[in-house]
This record gives sequence, C-alpha cells and structure tokens, in this order.
Amino acid sequence: MEPGDTVIDATAGNGHDTLYLAGLTGEHGRVIAIDIQETAVAAARQRITNAGQKNVDFQLQSHADPWPVPPQTVKAVMFNLGYLPGSDRTTTTAAETTRIALQHAEEALQDGGIITVISYRGHPGGAEEEAAVRNWCESLAEGDFQTLRHVADEKHESSPVLFVIRKQAALDRELAVNSEPTEKTETIELDRFLKMAQLASSGGQAKHLIRSGEIQVNGEVETRRGRKLRHGDVVTASGEDYVIETDA
Ligand SMILES: C[S@@+](CC[C@H](N)C(=O)[O-])C[C@H]1O[C@@H](n2cnc3c(N)ncnc32)[C@H](O)[C@@H]1O
Repeated sequence: MEPGDTVIDATAGNGHDTLYLAGLTGEHGRVIAIDIQETAVAAARQRITNAGQKNVDFQLQSHADPWPVPPQTVKAVMFNLGYLPGSDRTTTTAAETTRIALQHAEEALQDGGIITVISYRGHPGGAEEEAAVRNWCESLAEGDFQTLRHVADEKHESSPVLFVIRKQAALDRELAVNSEPTEKTETIELDRFLKMAQLASSGGQAKHLIRSGEIQVNGEVETRRGRKLRHGDVVTASGEDYVIETDA
C-alpha cells in the first residue's frame, strides 16, 4: 500500500484497523470503513477524529450490500470477522454474507491489490465461516490470484486463521502463463516458493531473507515438476518477491 491508495476496511468495529489503514494511505488516500452497527461506526469515527485523520469515509451498511466504489479501483481490503469486542456479541459476521462481501472485494480490487481476512473459529458459526472463506479462496482462478492460509496456533482447533489473497498484477499473470522454464529457472507458486525458501534456509546458511525476485537454492530441493535444483540455481517466484541469499 502507498500514500494516495483507496482501501476498504470491511469490518470497521472499534476502528483500530481503520486507523492503521488511514495512516498508510495518507491525506491524499481514502479509506472506506464499513460496519453494520451504529455503535461500531460511532466508535471508529471517534478514534479517527481523535487521531486527527480526515481521509476516512464511513458506511453504515452490511458489507454484503453493494460497495460504493468502481470496479478495480481498490488497493487493499481488510476483513476482521466476528463480533464487536466489548459488545453483547449478538451481531457477528456470518458465512453467507461474508462470502458475498468477498465477491465485492474481488470485483473492487485492482491488479496487484490484496485482501486480508482474519477469521475466528471459537464462537458459534465461526468454523463454518472460516470454511466458507477457505472454499472461496479455492474457487479463485489459480493464475489470477495467490492465496495464503495461516493458522495462528495449529495445536488449537479454534485458533484464528489469517488469509492473504493477492490479485496478480497483469504483467505477472502474463509471465505466469507465458514464461518457459529455462535450464536453470522455473516459475513456481507462492506457497511452493515459501516452502523452498524454508528448505533453503534450514541448513542455517541463508544470510538474509530480503525482498527481491529470486531464490538461490542452498542444497538440493526438488520442484513440483520433479526437477532437482542445486545450490546456486535460481528460482523465480511468479508475482512474488522474496530471495534467499546463501553464504556460498
Ligand atoms: C472483530 S470486529 C472488527 C474489529 C475492527 N476491525 C477493529 O479494528 O476494531 C467485527 C465487526 O464486524 C461487524 N459486522 C458484523 N456483520 C457485518 C456485516 N454484515 N457487514 C459489515 N460489518 C459487519 C461487527 O459489527 C463488528 O464491528
């Protein structure tokens, strides 16, 4: 995200996330903060006013209702599902309306944009809602979106789950489709890339994980196509930007 971007907080609540987004997008950017409850919008508005931010528009509506933005104009959408902390918990997000809202988010997102969802499974309906988000992620076209699902604590069934969904930039989509592997390069998906990055660094020889376009493999790693990569080989992650630099 950059100053000047338009972003959406799809569950404004007490406004903590809204404030975070307002800071990132700056005075020339715009945050649209949606919540279905008047108490939430009032609390979020107060937080934003206290912080002196002026770039937030509040929408008192369900996020399942149409969004007030043209298609493909939004850089990021944030969902923090569940109920309003400190409330009587009677109003919570729900699988069906969340699924519709995710659809709105997909339509609103510009190339290279990102959707984040935090889903809680400990309250009634929470596990079903998390499954609905997971199913929706799986329904996205593989070449157009990259998705990541992270469980905060695998040992606990009701641990919160973070989803990150990134819409590929047009150029990345083209590269993913058209790039032919050369003798030493292969285009791979984000989850595979991250696993390889882990493998490459597990020998303890990785110097840093830095933002860039390639991974230098340390030791032998087998790719999905069954190609064996050796130390010094270069793997480009489609649309992603991480690199492992090894010591050698
Ligand atoms: C966990 S809270 C959000 C916390 C918030 N992001 C913050 O920083 O404080 C979830 C919020 O979702 C809202 N909500 C529930 N159903 C909704 C719906 N259909 N559309 C929009 N907001 C909804 C609730 O009113 C509640 O404020």
